Amino acid sequence: MKPLKVALLGCGVVGSQVIRLLDEQAADLAARIGAPLELAGVAVRRLGRKRDVEVAPDLLTTDAETLVARDDIDIVVEVIGGIEPARTLIVSALNNGKSVVTANKALLAEDGATLYEAARAGNGDLYFEASVAGAIPLLRPLRESLAGDHVKRVLGIVNGTTNYILDKMDTTGASFTDALEEAQTLGYAEADPTADVEGFDAAAKAAILASLAFHSRVTAADVHREGITEITATDVASAKAMGYVIKLLAICARSDDGRSFGVRVHPAMIPRTHPLAGVREAYNAVFVEAESAGQLMFYGKGAGGAPTASAVLGDIVAVARNRIAGTRGPAESTYADLSAHPMGETVTRCHVALDVADKPGVLATVADLFAKHDVSIQTVRQEGHGDDAQLVIVTHRATDAALTATMESLRELDIVRAVASVMRVEGDD
Ligand SMILES: NC(=O)c1ccc[n+]([C@@H]2O[C@H](COP(=O)([O-])OP(=O)(O)OC[C@H]3O[C@@H](n4cnc5c(N)ncnc54)[C@H](OP(=O)(O)O)[C@@H]3O)[C@@H](O)[C@H]2O)c1
Repeated sequence: MKPLKVALLGCGVVGSQVIRLLDEQAADLAARIGAPLELAGVAVRRLGRKRDVEVAPDLLTTDAETLVARDDIDIVVEVIGGIEPARTLIVSALNNGKSVVTANKALLAEDGATLYEAARAGNGDLYFEASVAGAIPLLRPLRESLAGDHVKRVLGIVNGTTNYILDKMDTTGASFTDALEEAQTLGYAEADPTADVEGFDAAAKAAILASLAFHSRVTAADVHREGITEITATDVASAKAMGYVIKLLAICARSDDGRSFGVRVHPAMIPRTHPLAGVREAYNAVFVEAESAGQLMFYGKGAGGAPTASAVLGDIVAVARNRIAGTRGPAESTYADLSAHPMGETVTRCHVALDVADKPGVLATVADLFAKHDVSIQTVRQEGHGDDAQLVIVTHRATDAALTATMESLRELDIVRAVASVMRVEGDD
């Protein structure tokens, strides 16, 4: 059969590995698809840059717009990243009848609707497995394998950089700053780590996961986001003492009445017995709870050139097969049209450490204040005496609004010298 021509936009960490795999696996890919794939052009920003893979000079171009509009191109793979020019190029490719594979979580979470609409109008495919959790097959299971089920919750570690940092803090007692520095030295964190440590990267992925899980349109702006920069070695030690570990979680959960969902990214304590607690170093894992399937766990490498390229290649094979069969993969599914509820309505639990005056009646006053806000206490223990006295409280489930109001009132109590740490507790309900 005549070859399917592939245009690659971007030849960096991921793009160079896509080229390597297209070359090394050419025969197998052709057999699996039923036609060979031919790399027909590679758009980059700097022509003269040294690359991790050899690219024939006549394939390289800085004119991505012309490349995606070329009549002979069948499949466009976008691994440039960011919003523009990626959006314009993808839309242009789809408008020109191409199928598109992208790893661009930021764009999908900001303006996925525009991309889906262009795919619909151009009757082409839009596949994006690599955009969430790198190599881990996760979006296709949500989009296809679980299409007959009812997903209730998705709970995951979807950012390897923050997991590496928190894991180092947990295993060595390091501070956030020291653990971040080590992650940067080892190449797990960027020189500017903001997108990772402030939770922006995980929030984009949470938006994509929620949209697929709940068949609704979700953008990054719907995601409640908190990063890990405020987490101290004391928080980590305190969690450890109670049999918990702190992880940055992306949580997408339907409300109890099923009429809305919550989507959030924040650090949380999870029991050491929870399957996500054992996810070490820069690995990712996502726990999916569906009505009939029950609990499912997806685990693996969430980033890196070759792992991410594996997911991209899987998508290339899928869209290539569809083109040959004259069909399309799943389109956008937003029929449920649910919306994200405010963080205050989310039901969660809380671990609180209070520096308190060590005198009679303190516990009763604190307990009374929790009760006033309708927050019931599951466990309480006192640590230290005198000026070092600390009350460590774990609550039962309550709305985030009630928990936040409780913390504000605690700060106003004379007998509370400081609210030393507040952390949500997840994964043990
Ligand atoms: N790296 C990972 O582990 C990973 C994991 C999952 C998903 N992703 C996603 O994959 C995508 C690519 O990431 P990456 O790490 O491979 O990025 P990268 O290493 O920074 O590579 C970006 C590439 O895009 C090219 N480029 C930039 N602006 C361009 C423009 N205006 N026109 C044409 N080419 C342009 C660059 O060209 P030059 O080489 O000439 O500068 C470079 O080759 C992003 O969406 C990212 O979120 C990455």
